[in-house]
Amino acid sequence: MNLTLKIWRQQSATAPGGFVSYRINEVTPEMSFLEMLDMLNEDLINRQEPPVAFEHDCREGICGSCGFLVNGVAHGGQRGTTVCQLAMRFFNDGDTLTLEPWRARAFPVIRDLIVNRSAFDRIIQAGGFITAPTGSAPDANAVLVPKEDADTAFDAAACIGCGACVAACPNASAMLFTSAKVTHLNSLPQGQPQRDQRTLSMVATMRNEVFGSCTNHGECEAVCPKQIPIEFIGKLNRDFIRALWHRHREPLTIPSVVQLPCAEDAHEHFHDDIRPSQG
Ligand code: SF4
Ligand code: FES
Repeated sequence: MNLTLKIWRQQSATAPGGFVSYRINEVTPEMSFLEMLDMLNEDLINRQEPPVAFEHDCREGICGSCGFLVNGVAHGGQRGTTVCQLAMRFFNDGDTLTLEPWRARAFPVIRDLIVNRSAFDRIIQAGGFITAPTGSAPDANAVLVPKEDADTAFDAAACIGCGACVAACPNASAMLFTSAKVTHLNSLPQGQPQRDQRTLSMVATMRNEVFGSCTNHGECEAVCPKQIPIEFIGKLNRDFIRALWHRHREPLTIPSVVQLPCAEDAHEHFHDDIRPSQG
């Protein structure tokens, strides 16, 4: 296969970026998309040109490092597939493929196809943990978990934090990611002691980052390589209302989370844009 690649090249976060076209020949159907880019980079290095920067680690769909837009679709458009698992057999000889980084204010471009996803890390830091005694691992059946709850937690834990949901959302909302992380721990008995605090902290942190609000487009679910269902956003809504109710209308102040003025009182703003969607 011979292809034309139009790739977003940007030297640094502050440098201007633009598309550069490359011809690439002898691509085989068995290659993965990233192997095809490796081949391009070897060619660029041989010509003493800077290689295209893109993130990757496991190359088997589990680490969440990789991700960019292929022809405007996050991860390239094969359902339940990260771009590292995308095979070149899904493309045709003569195709022109446009590659660009996630487009979201909360994910500034670092270089070429790499964006800074630290905003996700800060959401995790706000509540993606449980307090549990340290020591040796307890017996597997020491805390009984109902099957339905275990399945829900397992499905939510599948989120790899790739950021495709944010890139696909017209509002650049992080609701699918946050709902997966909240649902994972809030579904388990071990996550109950901090259920309310976790929910409020993670929603407040999400809001302090520059993500948009969910308006039920469903684009996030469509591109999610782990097929996280949008119903988790509904679960997050319910947990958020529950947590606010338990707070008895007290102002929301959360230690360890930097409170911007807009998030000082989540309840006061609850009826406008902090309210998660109806999903
Ligand atoms: S919800 Fe899906 S698309 Fe979003 S970060 Fe998690 S795995 Fe990626
Ligand atoms: S490189 Fe790990 S998920 Fe793609």
